[in-house]
Amino acid sequence: MRHPILFVLLCLAAGGSVGCKGDGSMSSQGVGGGVWGDLSGVRVQRFTLRNGNGMEVDLCDYGAMVTSVRVPDRNGGSVDVVLGFDSIGEYPEKSQYFGCTVGRVGNRIAGGSFELDGQSYSLAINNGPNHLHGGERGFDKYVWNATELLTSRGPGVRFSRSSPAGEEGYPGTLEAEAVYVLTENDELVIEMSATTDARTPCNIVHHTYWNLGGHGSGTVLDETLIIDADRYTPVDATLLPTGELALVDGTPLDFRAGKSIGSDFGAFPANGDDPGGFDHNLCLNGEVGTVREVARLSDSKTGIVMTISTDQPGIQFYTGNFLNGMMGKGGAIYEQNGGLCLETQAFPDSINHRGEAGWSDVVLRPGTDYRHVMVHRFSID
Ligand code: BGC
Repeated sequence: MRHPILFVLLCLAAGGSVGCKGDGSMSSQGVGGGVWGDLSGVRVQRFTLRNGNGMEVDLCDYGAMVTSVRVPDRNGGSVDVVLGFDSIGEYPEKSQYFGCTVGRVGNRIAGGSFELDGQSYSLAINNGPNHLHGGERGFDKYVWNATELLTSRGPGVRFSRSSPAGEEGYPGTLEAEAVYVLTENDELVIEMSATTDARTPCNIVHHTYWNLGGHGSGTVLDETLIIDADRYTPVDATLLPTGELALVDGTPLDFRAGKSIGSDFGAFPANGDDPGGFDHNLCLNGEVGTVREVARLSDSKTGIVMTISTDQPGIQFYTGNFLNGMMGKGGAIYEQNGGLCLETQAFPDSINHRGEAGWSDVVLRPGTDYRHVMVHRFSID
């Protein structure tokens, strides 16, 4: 199940700290960890990955999540570009899937139901009439097993959990992993993988909210975004794909040449319970299964640029429409559109569109591996 790029040259996997000096402080590169707190009596740990260029990533075993990414800006400072909270206790209460690993199936499944091998399955319904992000208690709401790593590409942490058959209504026991590595090329590499003992849909998704101006620096509407996608999946009023793979030409979803996120934002106004804004799956160009660059986000204030490469067919572009002015790290206020998610994935509700042209098969079978690679590369413009 482990991918050779990360693991062939794995030189050390230790239960204790790697890269820590004798006095407990961090050396310039490595991973250090410790207890962060507890949730209902379960111990929660946090880890910091650090590279030689001053980049640092904080990870947590609750939800196998990212809680901070600190990157150098063009003025010689360091900017935390990820929304999060100061204490673990705030996550279950306030988090809208901040930084976490979403599963067993990210995004929506129509009516929470699907058929597999002639049998109907009913999943937890937790978003209007639909199933969202794995259900009532998805992968984001568990404490995962964690192992610190020192790989040939850099320090990392491997998170794993066993999702029992029947969890949230899904068939088959799923053994899932999310591996994070910070490289000397300023890449945060995320590899999600899974195996199963019975056929099941599987689409594990990473859900960090980014703001390259710094978390709490206001909205992301003045950031510039490129998405390499000729098509998108139009949705109905409950955000379920209609099945059509429509061209982005002439629509607000045409990000191929790059544009400010705010420029066409008015095309999706608030309407009743719908807060408005982007919340769309785009169909990525290039070959599915091949890791290729699919998105580029930049902020003119800090000069920070983030590119995303993936092997997945789609990306959910979500502009934090439900953020509501909650207080985050260091007293920062996360107003509406104060962060955005770029969630690489199989298209939403793929399990109910099997066999349709352009839709990928999200059924994982015993003896095969699910694999999802996401590379976030940071630089300064
Ligand atoms: C979905 C949104 C949802 C949000 C919850 C996103 O991945 O696309 O529709 O509201 O997650 O945080």
